[in-house]
Amino acid sequence: MRRVVHISDLHFGHNDPTLLDPLRDAIARIDPHVVIVSGDLVEHATDEEFRAAQAFLRLLPCPQIVVPGNHDLPFWNLARRVLEGLRKYRRYITSDPSPEYVDDEIAIVGADSAHLFPVKGGTVTSFQLKGLVNRFSSFPTGLVRILVTHHPFDLPDPANPHLLMGHARRSVARLAPVVDVLAAGHIHVSSVGSTSARYNTAGHSMVYVQAGTAISSRYKGEANAFNLLRIGRGEAQQKQVIVDRYAWVNARSSFVPVGSAEFLLGKEGWAQVPPVPAR
Ligand SMILES: [Fe+2]
Ligand SMILES: [Fe+2]
Repeated sequence: MRRVVHISDLHFGHNDPTLLDPLRDAIARIDPHVVIVSGDLVEHATDEEFRAAQAFLRLLPCPQIVVPGNHDLPFWNLARRVLEGLRKYRRYITSDPSPEYVDDEIAIVGADSAHLFPVKGGTVTSFQLKGLVNRFSSFPTGLVRILVTHHPFDLPDPANPHLLMGHARRSVARLAPVVDVLAAGHIHVSSVGSTSARYNTAGHSMVYVQAGTAISSRYKGEANAFNLLRIGRGEAQQKQVIVDRYAWVNARSSFVPVGSAEFLLGKEGWAQVPPVPAR
């Protein structure tokens, strides 16, 4: 079983510094095979913020799959945004625009959905989409294949559809036959589900996994949180993904597991296993 930690929206420059050590400790206890960071590492894309983000990432286990978010480009200053783009992100975090990790159980590919415009929203361009479909198609089908972006392709209904990335429906139709899990952030609220509720992709529904904000104080009604994805095989040897949500609990001064959702791959694609009601 593979353990993949999924953190997001660190927003260095608008973060709670007292959460850094507890987050690092929680991740160390999990001892993940891979750490995913789904964007918005900083708040204003300054050197100081990126240096802090870089220093923190260096304390986390590797390998890491990191993608940029809309805040990793200069957000408020249009001139800086156009002139600098992702230069500082590339300098301090990674120059790899499509990082990937592959072993004999999982394949993870990151894609940059944060472009110069629109400022807040994001998209995967048709050029990127073609590359992603080709890359995911090349992996053995026995692997659980995970695409990481900052902006979400899917959210629980009745989330505002404007929160989804641009051209999400087009992208989902192309990705669904070759991708198992969509991991994203941006919303600062955790969620999981099957894409079958929103998209009809004929037998190829995917799992979507949203991470909340791990350490920022940009709260959207939820405590700081991150996800652990446990990826393996169910009782009938079908592909299985279990998403554990870890949330900050003040009374315990630590991140602790607060919920879990299990997904299995069946004939119609990925579906959530109904939770067993408590007695
Ligand atoms: Fe964010
Ligand atoms: Fe964002």
